[in-house]
Amino acid sequence: MFTPEMMQSIQKVEATRPQRMGMEPRRMTADEKDALLKAYHPDYRADGFAEIKTGPNKGQKAPAELTQLLHANSRLLHTEIDITKNDYDVDVLVIGGGGAGASAAIEAHEAGASVMIATKLRLGDANTMMAEGGIQAADKENDSPVQHYLDAFGGGHFAARPELLRRLVMEAPDAIRWLNRLGVMFDKDAEGTMITTHGGGTSRKRMHACKDYSGAEIMRTLRDEVLNRKIPVAEFTAAVELLKDEKGQVAGAVLLNLETEDYLVARARTVVIATGGAGRLHYQGFPTSNHYGATADGLILGYRAGAPLLYQDTIQYHPTGVAYPSQIFGALVTEKVRSLGAMLVNAQGEAFMHPLETRDVAAASIIRECTDRGKGVTTPLGSGVWLDTPMIELLGGEGTIEKRIPAMLRMYLNYGIDMRRQPILVYPTLHYQNGGLEIGGDGFTKVIPNLLVAGEAVGGIHGRNRLMGNSLLDIIVFGRNAGKAAAARAQVTEPGSPNLDHIKAYAEELSAAGIASEDVSPLLLPKYARHER
Ligand code: FUM
Repeated sequence: MFTPEMMQSIQKVEATRPQRMGMEPRRMTADEKDALLKAYHPDYRADGFAEIKTGPNKGQKAPAELTQLLHANSRLLHTEIDITKNDYDVDVLVIGGGGAGASAAIEAHEAGASVMIATKLRLGDANTMMAEGGIQAADKENDSPVQHYLDAFGGGHFAARPELLRRLVMEAPDAIRWLNRLGVMFDKDAEGTMITTHGGGTSRKRMHACKDYSGAEIMRTLRDEVLNRKIPVAEFTAAVELLKDEKGQVAGAVLLNLETEDYLVARARTVVIATGGAGRLHYQGFPTSNHYGATADGLILGYRAGAPLLYQDTIQYHPTGVAYPSQIFGALVTEKVRSLGAMLVNAQGEAFMHPLETRDVAAASIIRECTDRGKGVTTPLGSGVWLDTPMIELLGGEGTIEKRIPAMLRMYLNYGIDMRRQPILVYPTLHYQNGGLEIGGDGFTKVIPNLLVAGEAVGGIHGRNRLMGNSLLDIIVFGRNAGKAAAARAQVTEPGSPNLDHIKAYAEELSAAGIASEDVSPLLLPKYARHER
């Protein structure tokens, strides 16, 4: 159901389609990309950021909404908690029930540790579930982990931590085999060979997928494995602070049962933060492709306890969020749509960029088209450009969309738009935090003994921009490693007595910096959450 203005613009898209079918738009030069990013990428908007005044990253900038939470008060500052009680006592506490948390718990359990998952929503309510396009691994003959490394290192502006990226690409093929063994239904051809495609910035076809619901299929499998192993899962139970001991080691966490509002103490020899991303903070007013619980909680927990952040000032805006219809504003339109041949086209029907530039470049290019160039299509909530999806059927044959991206087709059909015959309108949406807590190659934070981080809460794996399919990969690789390492460390560590002294110390630092915030953090649920009882 398009507006009359949109219909007029669609006619222009249709008129230029035959000529565009035979061409490949040129790729931008490195200098063109740099200039484009500086002028149009939201990471370069000074007014979107604020200086952090306390903690290990004092003096650096972060998105203003994140800085506000870093400057907010602990829920426990004025709450009496008996931290000598033991509501739970485990070797490994995993905070977060998404793909990284589930992978960590499975491997810790496999290693013989007593492990539990605490998750503020339900097991599997996570960005993993929302991931669509696929998971990268260099496991074909024409490819190699080195090639994968080079693509990701360049795509991330040469800022990825080498020891982390090396682990990511080297362990990718085994991650795919592990998932396949657990029962993930990857797309395969008649001979049983995995079907792989390109993503933005990849030099080889290494994207393994489960149609366009890859994350949901992976999460389904991991959740089954957690449940089959009878790993305890405390659902609707949020971690609100870490516990430390007199040696400065992490000693567990204080949990909040969101249904009863009771505080619980979970003692643990090692803790894995796997709390995911921050899309629901809606940096710079962007809509998001993220799930409801993506509120940067792990970053706050770790930071208040003294763990530094890395690249907290770099955010990924997925180039193709839904711009129209408004009911699904900001939802993800998988990059796979472009991998299958759809071009990005402006209101005049002009292809204005190569469809598989890296995400930061693609997002900036769309923003430029809709702002300075005035070539966007007006929508009720702003503007967008066309993703010329009928090209997929023309290039790949009738039925390609239904076969390869059925969830996308269905999402649009729900609103009367048939993407096989009509293009769709897209605009960048807040998708991923490139930064997060700093870890070493072994998954441990560098300053808090026995504390590990996995998944989107980690900073440094991808540098300053992530390629498609490397996030589903990192949750598996770093989740599995965190679980193994946490279980091994739990065997040898000597735990002390838990305390919350770091909360008082942080509050004093806030006060010394002249910050008197009314806010509390971690946020747990988005600001617009309805709290009905
Ligand atoms: O476009 C997508 O399907 C998203 C994938 C990713 O963020 O890795």
